[in-house]
Amino acid sequence: MQRNIILIGFMGTGKSSIGRFLSQRLAYPLIDTDELISIEQNSPIPQIFEEHGENHFRDLETQTLQNLHRHTGHIISTGGGIIGRPLNRQLLRQLGYVVWLIASPETILERTSRNDNRPLLNTPDPQKTIAELLEKRTPLYKETAHLEIETSQLSFDEISSGIAESARYHFSSQP
Ligand code: S3P
Repeated sequence: MQRNIILIGFMGTGKSSIGRFLSQRLAYPLIDTDELISIEQNSPIPQIFEEHGENHFRDLETQTLQNLHRHTGHIISTGGGIIGRPLNRQLLRQLGYVVWLIASPETILERTSRNDNRPLLNTPDPQKTIAELLEKRTPLYKETAHLEIETSQLSFDEISSGIAESARYHFSSQP
């Protein structure tokens, strides 16, 4: 196996935690696009949204994906809205094996309400916002992913094993 494994999915679906788990299991270094952006901009994500707006943040996401194009053998965990732009969807698939992590709206609400570091959910009715965003984004995650995993009934260990095995099969059948 050599190309990257990329984790996509809505906020609160476990991309960062599963990314860490997979990274240890496969001994592949972990890259988190939000973390990269935050380090490069020297600013937390909510502050980037506040000072420069969402569009600017989306530009930074695209640049980050473009900068990663030479990487191989990494686990890449991404921000939930990275699939919004057609160019990003293309870049994600070029980077490697794309895995979509799925959780129920209730789980997402429960997990994301634990802290207030998601500017897009900083609304009077986060439950409604989650439903609206999920409706818009679900076809985009589906279109981008090679593999989708419903995470609610599975342990991190089971999820990571499933991803590792499917990715191995995917890469071994590539020309
Ligand atoms: C966003 C998700 C966040 C972060 C930013 C925007 C989104 O990442 O990129 O707040 O549009 O869904 P997580 O999915 O890691 O929370």
